Amino acid sequence: MGVGIIGLGKYLPKKVVTNDDISHLVDTDRTWIIERTGIEQRHIATTETGTDMACRAAEEALGDIDRNSIGLVLVATVTPDDMVPVTSAQVKRRLGLEHAVAFDVNAACSGFMYGMWTAEAIIKNGMVPGAATMEVKRALVIGVERLSRITNWEERSSCILFGDGAGAAVLEYSPEEPGILSTYLKNYDDHKGVLTCGKGYKAIPFWEDKEAYQHLSLRGKAVFKFAVNSIEEVTLAALEKAGLSLNDIDWFVPHQANLRIMDAAARRLNQPLEKFQISINKSANVSSASIPMALYDLQKTGKIRKGDKVAVMGFGGGLCAAAAIIQW
Ligand SMILES: CC(C)(COP(=O)(O)OP(=O)(O)OC[C@H]1O[C@@H](n2cnc3c(N)ncnc32)[C@H](O)[C@@H]1OP(=O)(O)O)[C@@H](O)C(=O)NCCC(=O)NCCS
Repeated sequence: MGVGIIGLGKYLPKKVVTNDDISHLVDTDRTWIIERTGIEQRHIATTETGTDMACRAAEEALGDIDRNSIGLVLVATVTPDDMVPVTSAQVKRRLGLEHAVAFDVNAACSGFMYGMWTAEAIIKNGMVPGAATMEVKRALVIGVERLSRITNWEERSSCILFGDGAGAAVLEYSPEEPGILSTYLKNYDDHKGVLTCGKGYKAIPFWEDKEAYQHLSLRGKAVFKFAVNSIEEVTLAALEKAGLSLNDIDWFVPHQANLRIMDAAARRLNQPLEKFQISINKSANVSSASIPMALYDLQKTGKIRKGDKVAVMGFGGGLCAAAAIIQW
């Protein structure tokens, strides 16, 4: 029995921040950023909240789909507007998804992949004859980020990398369609703290240590190496689970963190970069939102055809990584 993607949506904030704009904030230049990352610009939310962006992407993904048929809303984010209510609950209320159960998931830049895996499992579980759990036929999975709120705008090696935005997908139980063929997730322990972000809690008068930094902090080279290694590992594992080989894959849609990471992954997997969806140039790294946004771009540009096999690959803080093979 299959669970496939039947709708995709994307929202980018109106404000575009170019590399030149960033060079007015920190000691950098346009050429360095393009050559080292592939990023030409990013969108930054100046009036839109995370919930606004999530709702806009979700509305596009839903299109004419009956909103009463959505049984689950799952939002992946590391930058929720509020701790409570969670973003998924706010999306559910605003879009009038009367019959949906809503909760958020945080698996850093792999969040959308972990969300898709969870939604697929919940859908399939409810479809087993006599299942004790409730039936969910359709799920809305959203990745949304306002990374601009956790970016250290004074640190040139990281502030160039990130942007804001949202991507959404509607998953449906469709017994006749292959849909998601396999998923493989792996968590690696971040012993050295190469990718971290503090929290925004208030200082506690009884806590004995000093409060730590609040910004996103990364050790670029270490994260770069982890990304390339983990993409290879989880992609090969997901392919093996699906009984497929690399050459069976028509499109690779990796998390958009750095064009050089994608280039290195393509070489590791011995695949042409032309088979990789590249969206980083226009929207930078949008963490949980990167993958649904890139899937949207792949579909919108008309590259993907029915029956194509797509490998979707995520990696990020935690450290966590995931790959899924989807037949369109
Ligand atoms: C961050 C990243 C772009 C840095 O690229 P790099 O090639 O590794 O560059 P380095 O960190 O080695 O820095 C090289 C030099 O450029 C300088 N530099 C760093 N950022 C710069 C900038 N924005 N502009 C100009 N120079 C910069 C460094 O200070 C260093 O100078 P030095 O040699 O005088 O010390 C790259 O490591 C990366 O993308 N890593 C992955 C990060 C990521 O994606 N994280 C999220 C994953 S989900």
